Amino acid sequence: MKEELMRLKDKTIEVLSNSKNIDQLNDLKVKVLGKKGELTHILRGMSRLVPEERPILGKMANEVKESLEQKFSEKAQVLKEALKERKMAEEYIDVTIPSMVNLGNKHPLTLVLDEIRDIFTGLGYQVMEGPEIELDYYNFEALNTPKDHPARDVQDTFYITEEILLRTQTSPVQVRTMERQQPPLKIIAPGRVFRSDAVDATHSPMFHQVEGLAIGEGFTMGDLKGTLVAFIKEMFGDDRKSRFRPHFFPFTEPSAEVDISCIACHGEGCRICSYTGWLEILGCGMVHPNVLKNVGHDPEKINGFAFGMGVERIAMLKYGINDLRLFYENDLRFLRQF
Ligand code: PHE
Repeated sequence: MKEELMRLKDKTIEVLSNSKNIDQLNDLKVKVLGKKGELTHILRGMSRLVPEERPILGKMANEVKESLEQKFSEKAQVLKEALKERKMAEEYIDVTIPSMVNLGNKHPLTLVLDEIRDIFTGLGYQVMEGPEIELDYYNFEALNTPKDHPARDVQDTFYITEEILLRTQTSPVQVRTMERQQPPLKIIAPGRVFRSDAVDATHSPMFHQVEGLAIGEGFTMGDLKGTLVAFIKEMFGDDRKSRFRPHFFPFTEPSAEVDISCIACHGEGCRICSYTGWLEILGCGMVHPNVLKNVGHDPEKINGFAFGMGVERIAMLKYGINDLRLFYENDLRFLRQF
């Protein structure tokens, strides 16, 4: 019986040390130390022993049991550690693997707005914003456009009350800024504007403008031209030609519209530019003395220039888009091209 015990111990230790995982180890433990296990089986044979031998073998059996239990728990610990190590290795996340997630992209109008903003902030301009629901005073009156002025085509303006409207241009931000900030100042004001127009390929009741305003002492038309030519070259390329054409705005004097050489024919004349070789991109001029007076400046001391451009129009020219409606339809086949 002694030999049986010793054999069981040695055999168990050998099999145990070769166990590959916790399940195997547990099975072995049950097989050897369990209620119906091999050790119990051997101990049953005690009844055949002479009484003096029983305590000796009982003690020996206990020692074998204890030492095997010790070995089992040691091995279990080793296997658990190994399992943890393997899991860690398998679950390792390689953060350098390129991502396949489609994050989407910026809307073409956002791209153009970002670019306009970058160019002007690079020239030292601050970005300002104003309300879309505006007072008649800021949208017209303060901009030298009194109630009976022909430039106020009632047809074009969404009135909310007689004194409140949806702004038809970003120019009211000029006045709001000058009321709050003393010269010298250089600002651009991007934002939505609204006009009661029917929708077609070149009209929308809502579109975007960027206003520009520079106020200080001794500004000339040359400063205005230099600024806008620099902008056009940045936006449309170094070889883009531009011209200033006399125009009328109530809030600038003198006023001009700026054309760039046609992006399609480069000035030869084609359908896109109505065979003129030129495309209009913005309005501008020297701030009218009445506007300066309205915000409390002496036009003899303080002057400056202003300009305003349509963002959709610039995006259409820059990307060769022929229908304004594409900007608002959110068709992914269109949006994914930018
Ligand atoms: N507000 C004018 C428009 O909407 C553009 C403009 C802005 C012209 C500033 C001159 C100076 O057409």
